[in-house]
Amino acid sequence: MNNFEFKNPTKIIFGKHTIEKLEREIPKDAKVLMLYGGGSIKKNGIYNQVKTALSKHDLIEFGGIPANPEYAVLMDALKIIKEQNITYLLAVGGGSVIDGTKFLSSAALFEGDTPWDILTKNIRTEKGMPFGTVLTLPATGSEMNSGAVITREETKEKLAMGGPGLFPEFSILDPQVITSIPERQLANGITDAFTHVLEQYMTYPIGAQLQDRFAESIMQTLIEVAPKVLQDPTDYQAASNFMWSCTMALNGLIQKGVPTDWAVHAMGHELTALFGIDHARTLAVIAPSHYKYNFEAKKEKLAQYAERVWNITEGSTNDKAYAAIEKTEAFFNQLGIDTKLSDYTNAYQGTAEIISKRFTERGWTGLGEHQSLSPDKVEKIVKMAY
Ligand code: NZQ
Ligand code: ZN
Repeated sequence: MNNFEFKNPTKIIFGKHTIEKLEREIPKDAKVLMLYGGGSIKKNGIYNQVKTALSKHDLIEFGGIPANPEYAVLMDALKIIKEQNITYLLAVGGGSVIDGTKFLSSAALFEGDTPWDILTKNIRTEKGMPFGTVLTLPATGSEMNSGAVITREETKEKLAMGGPGLFPEFSILDPQVITSIPERQLANGITDAFTHVLEQYMTYPIGAQLQDRFAESIMQTLIEVAPKVLQDPTDYQAASNFMWSCTMALNGLIQKGVPTDWAVHAMGHELTALFGIDHARTLAVIAPSHYKYNFEAKKEKLAQYAERVWNITEGSTNDKAYAAIEKTEAFFNQLGIDTKLSDYTNAYQGTAEIISKRFTERGWTGLGEHQSLSPDKVEKIVKMAY
């Protein structure tokens, strides 16, 4: 196992009827800006639960943060934060609203020229405006990590940011919120969380037995609950295991002491930026090609995953490793997720070249666990995913 340091300061409040506990988590004298998305919280009652819990707080709202949180919209919210002397942010939503809130937490205290620099110049946020979250969609793990991904339509970019100042102070996880989530978004959530585990696991063996088993158990749990969650989102036991798996998949724990990849996400983000494809679906498009292209480097872990997660015990290391890639793709397909770029757009010719050129321009010349995935290899992987 590699050396590591681990600190995750986010308080998790998990379970039924936990939104009512909001009141005690936010300082009484705070001036709160509640942030939310396109309005699902008004239809499913979460909005009312939050407003009731915070009826004694000084609170204003900002709605309309779109999926793949848009920079221009967030800049409108930033104006309100400054004009109204907001001191505390509350995200009520999925990864997009939470990530948008993290950007605002950072931008509110940022002293540089333009907050866009936080994303383009990789400025780590050491201290942000304090914020909490009410999670409405299990998927990204953003509710318990310090990263965010922001989209800018004007330049067709999607860039990441983060830093120790961007952990939520608390996150409320009531699994009952999933009852109103459309099937497409449930499938996205399962796929995203599953791929988060793969990114931190599908590298090479390093003797981190406990970390491997944490990762495998999260994947096993997701595979087990996926059909139940899709068939009946009111199944509380399935919903609670789904929600906690998504959080555990990306709260920092399973990546400690092990090499990590993250190239699938790097390529996937470009497909969202270029074509607006849902984040999780871009991962399902890239992952099978990525694992096939990097087969030699990853086959030991692929074979371990085959045995322990998919119960594939017959055949050579190569056979098992290859079967595991096929099983993974079939799993995404069973969730209703297509795994080829051409399933999502007709305008895919030239995409691989654009992505590879962007990576070169950004200096991303060596991605992956060996820092050896160069832009020409990225181009080949994206082409394999057409
Ligand atoms: O906007 P509203 O009306 O609320 O509808 C949302 C949205 O349309 C809807 N939804 C959310 N909760 C619901 C609900 N509908 C009914 N009932 C509910 N309870 O779902 C739609 C998608 O929401 P969104 O927040 O965009 O989804 P997700 O949580 O998948 O977040 C995706 C974003 O997170 C980023 C992605 O890149 C993408 O921008 N990621 C963030 C990460 C992080 N911070 O750690 C890691 C991830 O890899 C990912 O990159
Ligand atoms: Zn993701």
